[in-house]
Amino acid sequence: MRGEFITGTGTEVGKTVVAAAIARTARMTGARVAVFKPAVSGLDEYPLRPETWECAAELPDHVLLRLAAGSSQADDEIAPYRYGPPVSPHLGAELASEPIDPDRLRGAALEATEGADLLICEGVGGFLVPLTTDYLVRDLARDLGMPVTIVASPGLGTINHTLLTIEGVRDAGLQVGRVVLTPWPEAPSLLEVSNRETIAELGSVRVEMLFHLDLTAPERWPAIGLSEPERRLRAA
Ligand SMILES: Nc1ncnc2c1ncn2[C@@H]1O[C@H](COP(=O)(O)OP(=O)(O)OP(=O)(O)O)[C@@H](O)[C@H]1O
Ligand SMILES: [Mg+2]
Repeated sequence: MRGEFITGTGTEVGKTVVAAAIARTARMTGARVAVFKPAVSGLDEYPLRPETWECAAELPDHVLLRLAAGSSQADDEIAPYRYGPPVSPHLGAELASEPIDPDRLRGAALEATEGADLLICEGVGGFLVPLTTDYLVRDLARDLGMPVTIVASPGLGTINHTLLTIEGVRDAGLQVGRVVLTPWPEAPSLLEVSNRETIAELGSVRVEMLFHLDLTAPERWPAIGLSEPERRLRAA
């Protein structure tokens, strides 16, 4: 499967922002981009908003990803499992009395790629979040086999979280395409610069930075291409 899997050091670190920027960049180069997110929770907290850039900051993940990718996928095709309460997917599934079926996820991700040049898949929370008690985000990433981008915060605590995630991704037999630190401040402190350098060195990984984006003004977003190893793969 061509594309990228976007995970993070945890929830609310900026996965959707990064995935949307990658999806939009690919779309702007003419690629047909499909997006996928195995499960979305917390929909109760989102007011109904039109799917427009004006409302981008208030859209749930699967909707913002669709907008950024310029995709016409239906909700079900992007995020097969959607829950109202803001809970881990396995608990959301329990509360909805409908267990998550890994086969359905794999099938839906594969279907999403039909007619698309690449797939941008956002995980849920961090890398070891359970989709079911015995099928984690890691297992879906492994089934899809795409390089993994790890999204992390630039500040205190990020070295440990990021190195643990790098280790987890590599232990799963997957390639870490890069780490993206977000939102990267205009005037980074000594700590933030040191975090970036330390993660690059100890993780033997490429570290990119993403400045704060105005979600409602995508024309001002920087271009973020696919990560290096994947670009080489596509060129081959
Ligand atoms: N570069 C950035 N520019 C603007 N906002 C950012 C940036 N990075 C992170 N944020 C903000 O951080 C918050 C979390 O971002 P986001 O929703 O992308 O996280 P997430 O990891 O996808 O969360 P979840 O686990 O809920 O899927 C949002 O309010 C988002 O706007
Ligand atoms: Mg998200």
